[in-house]
Amino acid sequence: MTDLSVKIGKIKFENPVLVASGTFGYGEEYAQLIDLNKLGGIITKSITLNPREGNPPPRTCETPSGMLNAIGLANVGVDSFIKEKLSFLRSLDTKIIVNVAGSTLEEYVKVVKRLNRVKGIHMLEINISCPNVKMGGLQFGASEESAHEIIKTITENTNYPVMAKLTPNVTDITRIALAVEEAGCQAISLINTLVGMAINSDTRKPFLSNITGGLSGPAIKPVALAMVWRVAQEVKVPVIGIGGIMDTKDALEFLLAGASMIQVGTANFVDSRASIKIIEGLKEYCENNGIKRIRELVGRVET
Ligand SMILES: Cc1cc2nc3c(=O)[nH]c(=O)nc-3n(C[C@H](O)[C@H](O)[C@H](O)COP(=O)(O)O)c2cc1C
Repeated sequence: MTDLSVKIGKIKFENPVLVASGTFGYGEEYAQLIDLNKLGGIITKSITLNPREGNPPPRTCETPSGMLNAIGLANVGVDSFIKEKLSFLRSLDTKIIVNVAGSTLEEYVKVVKRLNRVKGIHMLEINISCPNVKMGGLQFGASEESAHEIIKTITENTNYPVMAKLTPNVTDITRIALAVEEAGCQAISLINTLVGMAINSDTRKPFLSNITGGLSGPAIKPVALAMVWRVAQEVKVPVIGIGGIMDTKDALEFLLAGASMIQVGTANFVDSRASIKIIEGLKEYCENNGIKRIRELVGRVET
């Protein structure tokens, strides 16, 4: 029997495969398509204090080996999330991670304080890396000082372990990673999307109403892998790898680079069973290669 479990702080995940924020709705949307209880965990869409409609369409577009999105953090807001979405998630036998975003430090704090009062949440992922909103998101994750301040304030105001989600749109991601580790987060997830743009040469207009968007999918995997590898060398907290993970081989590459867990994002749109196939594939890989515990693979790239 292969042990696929992973521990982050006191939380035990049955396997290292999570579904990435914004690509899996509030979980319920995929209930008819896959057995949600088989996932290591579900990460919700980013939740803000008030409901947000997001940016006007078009807000997604396909690009070579990837896609651009500029959703703009559309979500139901924390109160409706608690009232309407959480009871379904709570009924599942998997770990629930709520992704939190905001335009100001105060907004983040208000959201996490409201989440303190409810049951059924195991962990928070703090989005300090959204490239598609005018206020908030990326601006917090782009400097060591602001990333440190926001993560420190949140860890002081929440009952839950905190995972800080970093942006690749910075000069040196390891410095931001060290800052959020120092601020008290229990894990670091990376990467969010890379700022990109696509123009329709016939109409001379950008494809996205927001003009720029976040690039995701296979196109960003080498960038994500290098960043995971660099960050994993520097920090002691577990690193969660994200970026273009489409299949088991991709997931293995991230584990070898130093990720303790991985998140499946854009792949969910291509094949709703992608995450389940990766879990099965990892199990098979371990069995075929005599690996008893998947955590033995973490960081084992031979450089
Ligand atoms: C349509 C779409 C919506 C997203 N929404 C969010 C979001 O609300 N919050 C967040 O932290 N990341 C969001 N992301 C970023 C993903 O969680 C992930 O970090 C990124 O897409 C890279 O992984 P991938 O290449 O596997 O998709 C979104 C990505 C996509 C494609």
